[in-house]
Amino acid sequence: MDRKEFARRRRQFMRMIGKDAIAILPAAPVRHRNGDMEYAYRQDSHFHYLSGFPEPDSVAVLVPGRPQGEYLLFVREHDAVREAWDGARAGTEGAVEHYGADDAFPITDIDEILPGLLERRSQIYYSMGTHPDFDSHVLSWVHGLRSQARQGAATPHEFVALRHVLDDMRLYKSRAEQASLRRSAQIAVGAHRRAMRFARPGRMEYEVMAELLHEFRSHNADLSYYPIVGGGANSCVMHYRDNDQRLCDGDLLLLDAGCEHDYYASDITRTFPVGGRFSSAQRAVYEVVLDAQLAAIDKVRSGNHWNHPHEAAVRVITQGLVKLGLLKGKLAALLKDQAYLQFFGHRTGHWLGLDVHDVGDYKVGGEWRVLEPGMTLTVEPGIYIRPSPRVPKEFWNIGVRIEDEVLVTADAPEVLTAALEKTPEAIEYLLRAA
Ligand code: GLY
Ligand code: MN
Ligand code: MN
Repeated sequence: MDRKEFARRRRQFMRMIGKDAIAILPAAPVRHRNGDMEYAYRQDSHFHYLSGFPEPDSVAVLVPGRPQGEYLLFVREHDAVREAWDGARAGTEGAVEHYGADDAFPITDIDEILPGLLERRSQIYYSMGTHPDFDSHVLSWVHGLRSQARQGAATPHEFVALRHVLDDMRLYKSRAEQASLRRSAQIAVGAHRRAMRFARPGRMEYEVMAELLHEFRSHNADLSYYPIVGGGANSCVMHYRDNDQRLCDGDLLLLDAGCEHDYYASDITRTFPVGGRFSSAQRAVYEVVLDAQLAAIDKVRSGNHWNHPHEAAVRVITQGLVKLGLLKGKLAALLKDQAYLQFFGHRTGHWLGLDVHDVGDYKVGGEWRVLEPGMTLTVEPGIYIRPSPRVPKEFWNIGVRIEDEVLVTADAPEVLTAALEKTPEAIEYLLRAA
């Protein structure tokens, strides 16, 4: 992403917190899988959002109005031996030259420099509890200053949760972010198509997952979350992760997978028949979920509130379950009793952005948030029918979820994942052509 985008965000952020405040953002720590083996490093999303700086052991500090420089980075210094093992570091000069810092210091000097920056600032914007090891540093700097207060040092008197400001900024996706989300979606669409073509009776769920991974890595993308590749009964397990069963003719396969490309996540679900053709019961359930999803997407409009799409999905699913004979009673009463919950137990979506379940409050002042252009969310209703004596056998183990990504615009909702086959006809056609 263009460096100017990060500079623009910093300017906006500093305008919002004001000249009485300072913001401190630590990079994500390196996490160990076991022994000295590290997980792939993923920068903290807030830190990335404002800095674009990819290295661990770094701290970004924003000091609005500071004459000698408002944006400071504390970073790892060059170290020939470490860089020979782990790769190049930006160093302090790289932080200034390539990442737009007004000034940069070695991370090892932070204890000497940071307390001076806190003086005469009343609020510290900081995410307490996110990186607990770093919390103790911040508290010790503030305590140090307070103990000198008798000598006249002015000390900050208020911690403010950084997320109050940053979550809201991140909720509105800029043009550049929309482009990144589109790219991430496009890669995930390709991966789903590849996996759908590959899946057939006899293949293993993990082999299908391997197709997804191949496509993601071929485009320099990684998983944005561990994918769900659930055939048959596993399609009804909401957070199925084993992905180790054989695919059987006659079963559905539920594929919930997305990637992260240049820090932006995608998140798509498709459900399709392993053998290439929906049974009539599968197709009937599928069409209810599809109708619910289309009705919900149609509610993703500027001026509607967050819960409108969910309400639309719930209504269509309840009607559909009645038509299928799986619920009995009057629509109004069933809606009031939330009878759908036994088949559709999750919400219809979530914000999407740097994180799959992106930041941003769903309610403001106790009311559902009103949708505005630039907000991006998923729309993902589902129906999951586990074996039960109350349910005709042809419906057992049918789990269907359909998930797309939708951008709120000034006009019609824009489905970022619209290119991926979704109607039963288009899906069967794709599977036949495989
Ligand atoms: N796969 C996570 C989600 O759909 O929310
Ligand atoms: Mn998903
Ligand atoms: Mn999702």
